[in-house]
Amino acid sequence: MAATVVVGAQWGDEGKGRVVDILAERADLVVRFQGGSNAGHTVWVGEEHFALHLIPTGILRGKKCVIGNGVVVDPHALSEEADNLENRGVSVWNNLVISENAHLILPYHRLLDEAHERSLGDGKIGTTLRGIGQAYADKAARVGLRVGDMADEKEFCAKLERLADSKNQILKQVYGGENLPWEKVCEEYLRYAERLRPLITDTSLLINSALDDGKHVLFEGAQGALLDIDFGTYPYCTSSNSTAGGACTGTGVSPKRIDTIVGVMKAYTTRVGEGPFPTELEGSGVEGDIAEAMRKPGREYGSTTGRPRRIGWFDALVVRRAVMLSGIEELAVTHLDVLDQFEKIPVCVGYEYDGERMDIFPASSAKLRKCRPIYEELPGWKQDTSRAKKFAELPANGRRYLDRISELTGVAVKMVLVGPRRDQTVVG
Ligand code: IMP
Repeated sequence: MAATVVVGAQWGDEGKGRVVDILAERADLVVRFQGGSNAGHTVWVGEEHFALHLIPTGILRGKKCVIGNGVVVDPHALSEEADNLENRGVSVWNNLVISENAHLILPYHRLLDEAHERSLGDGKIGTTLRGIGQAYADKAARVGLRVGDMADEKEFCAKLERLADSKNQILKQVYGGENLPWEKVCEEYLRYAERLRPLITDTSLLINSALDDGKHVLFEGAQGALLDIDFGTYPYCTSSNSTAGGACTGTGVSPKRIDTIVGVMKAYTTRVGEGPFPTELEGSGVEGDIAEAMRKPGREYGSTTGRPRRIGWFDALVVRRAVMLSGIEELAVTHLDVLDQFEKIPVCVGYEYDGERMDIFPASSAKLRKCRPIYEELPGWKQDTSRAKKFAELPANGRRYLDRISELTGVAVKMVLVGPRRDQTVVG
């Protein structure tokens, strides 16, 4: 295992949390490298349900966890999440460290995210309203505040004050909002600083030293390949690199040190927020009914925002693109059990665009919007898969479905999840 990266191969919500939770059993260090509290990694431990947003999933296994420099940290969300976990018996404060170079999400990032989305009307992105894009925008513009800045109270407040004027001008004059009370923000953040200070460190040094010592490091991606800021369905994407390269830039680890890249995909496809989605099952007719039939067993509601997820059939072009972008070497397929109910299962093997067949996912969202899926139909299995532990215990048509996924993506399926519990995992 040494250094393993786990990334999403679709539009997020593939079940990365579950896969990381399983792989974390053998890890020494679990590291988040991008995104922020927009993520929602859901794990069941026995009868208990956990939804992690910012803290790496490895925390549930009692592992040392790292929030890397590529993450944007909302100290309010982090404190709340840590306290909730501690109240439920999970040790966070002793097991977590945070990069001093990670950027902070400040209240104006959330307000600007909301105001900007509102101003876009029907053209909105459908963000999680966590201030993610605004925080990354400040990072790129080199006007962001970093976690390490909280070390020096006086300097932190001075920096915050210097930003006050321009942010308030945008809030007020562009969006007609209220001025933010800066002294209060400063006070609030100093309280968080007090709590977080012992956790703040040079995490790139820590991770590289762990690798030097032969430790197993698991890099936990958030969102998915098609939400990547560079390669996703721009502008309907997030603001960080959710492909495997982000694991290097978001932690300070060389690409040469990465051993394995695991892609996580659902046995079908979902996305939340706006943007093109060729295989989406839409409307209130038969298609809508099929989507609804998957929503309940698949628990297809956003774990951060509670929004019902959009649902569609498996799209081989999406996953093939993710395989290329991240160099995925093995696949974990989640939610196979949700397909137990169907007589026949369509899978998308190409697109029709302007009267021509396409086998490659287009880089342009405008083009993607005009693509119509070309399906082949596979036989369903109409059998309960939720108790399978080995591939041989899956129904023959279930195995055939997985084999077809491997053929279409060029990658072996090494793990299959057939329900939310830890023991509903099929390997070997
Ligand atoms: P943001 O990351 O909050 O700016 O949202 C941008 C887009 O990414 C929206 O379509 C969100 O729904 C989507 N998104 C962000 N985080 C996740 C996630 O963890 N799972 C699925 N979609 C996400």
